[in-house]
Amino acid sequence: MSKCFYITTAIDYVNGEPHVGHAYEKVIADVIARARRSLGAEVFFLTGLDEHGQKVQQAAQGQNKSPQVYCDELSVVWKSLATALELTLDDFVRTTEPRHKQVVQAILSKLHAAGHFYKDAYKGFYSTKEETFLTEKDRLPGGTFPAQYGEVTELLEENYYFKLKDQQEWLIGYIEQNPGFIQPDYRRNEVLGFLKNNTLEDLCITRPASRLNWGIPVPFDPNFVTYVWFDALVNYITIPAAQGDPAVNSALNTPLPAAPAPKELWPADVHVIGKDILKFHAVYWPIMLKAMGLPQPKQILVHGWWQKEGEKLSKTTGNVVDPIAVINEWGIDAFRFYVVRELAIGPDGNWTDAGFQSRYQAELANGLGNLVNRSLSMLKRYRNGVVPQRSDELAAETARVIAETRAHLEQNQLQAALLSIWTLVTHANQYVDRTAPFRLAKDPAQAKRLDEVLYNLAEVCRVLAVLLWPFIPSTTEKIYAQLGLTGSPENFSQAAWGGLTEGSSIGEPAALFPRKDKPTA
Ligand code: ME8
Ligand code: MG
Repeated sequence: MSKCFYITTAIDYVNGEPHVGHAYEKVIADVIARARRSLGAEVFFLTGLDEHGQKVQQAAQGQNKSPQVYCDELSVVWKSLATALELTLDDFVRTTEPRHKQVVQAILSKLHAAGHFYKDAYKGFYSTKEETFLTEKDRLPGGTFPAQYGEVTELLEENYYFKLKDQQEWLIGYIEQNPGFIQPDYRRNEVLGFLKNNTLEDLCITRPASRLNWGIPVPFDPNFVTYVWFDALVNYITIPAAQGDPAVNSALNTPLPAAPAPKELWPADVHVIGKDILKFHAVYWPIMLKAMGLPQPKQILVHGWWQKEGEKLSKTTGNVVDPIAVINEWGIDAFRFYVVRELAIGPDGNWTDAGFQSRYQAELANGLGNLVNRSLSMLKRYRNGVVPQRSDELAAETARVIAETRAHLEQNQLQAALLSIWTLVTHANQYVDRTAPFRLAKDPAQAKRLDEVLYNLAEVCRVLAVLLWPFIPSTTEKIYAQLGLTGSPENFSQAAWGGLTEGSSIGEPAALFPRKDKPTA
């Protein structure tokens, strides 16, 4: 058994329909998953849904449905988003599943037995919108709480607490000694700043069942259910446990499930999350793991927020981008390309319909699409679709881009990889303009030169398909088919120059990104 490259996303609350922010996170994780597979790793890619808590319970009540029925119905919508995004998932976790509840309860029992919890009265404030506790310190100067928390209610109730006070020092040290643990660096510094300037409050990990029953029962006290964030974070090891990961199962004292082919998943290689849930992942989760006796994830990779036309996406104001509508109109690859190309993993981004359309037109239709279409059409027209003798005129330039792309993918620098790949797209389009194969074709004395140009162009198209497979897989499979190649360009090693063989026949060229000439709103 060898360790898989294990990558996860946040699990989304099922309190509404998915928007472009959720879709973005899943796409970047999928690009990383595919890139690692392409580079030769065995990968395990997990996403799923966060179904417990007050927020979900209230949403269900609002529709007069039981929370389970509500979650079951909406889970279908969310799973269909995963399909529409062409995610290469290995599992999909729902926190209401028995396999997850078992693991949460095993952890609670273990940590309780080890003395990590105590019971106390809680007096403070709660934001249902963010499912988080607040204190006096969170109030604005005027006395209200920041708008991001929505409605805040005051609570006075008994609960169980997880002792965090003794955990601060080692965590600071760990983050300092492991620069890759939280990325990008400015997010890491934010966490360090928080830990160095505040004393950690103990974490309330329960809810009285009398007030909120939509949660996992606490195994050692039937009057309580588990706090939704404690429950949700555990999903990342539920699946290793269910897949028979030996380290996780022995740490939890759970029997090994009868997995036919046990997988070694933990520690996760990348947790992809948004900046709003950094504290849960970079403070609470590491402390939970340490208490369980499990190693830390290799990396917490933190992306920014999408806004639309300069304003935060919000269901209440109707300022949303529906990923399914965009995909239906423009195709999945245009969506995947735009979000990864527009925004590096880190800063916030601004979705504008004009920006989307101009990238579609300039980079996909006129850039990649035009290159592939004219290269293959000329090969068809001038050489009857038969690949000429190998020529290496663009080999060095291509090798440079291959090396750069590999280096970026190994660092999860997805936008940088696309920028590098597009230098080759642009260069190859310039090569067409410079060598003018349509003129060469008119002069029989230039037949040899035309062969060279046509080979270089077709081979660049082939290499581009391999490099772009993690980003826009369907398009690259079409490129392969148009080149007359069987199989999928899914292995990075296929990018090596010279893959097209002399005398083979290409398939039918067809536009990859049809022009959209209709007027847009
Ligand atoms: O926080 N742009 O769920 P969630 C980019 N259940 N990303 C966005 C975004 C936007 N406008 N809006 C949301 C939760 N996200 C918890 C997670 S993990 C153990 C539990 C991202 O549905 C957000 O940053 O509110 C988060 O990573 C993910 O979508 C789910 O958000
Ligand atoms: Mg949220």
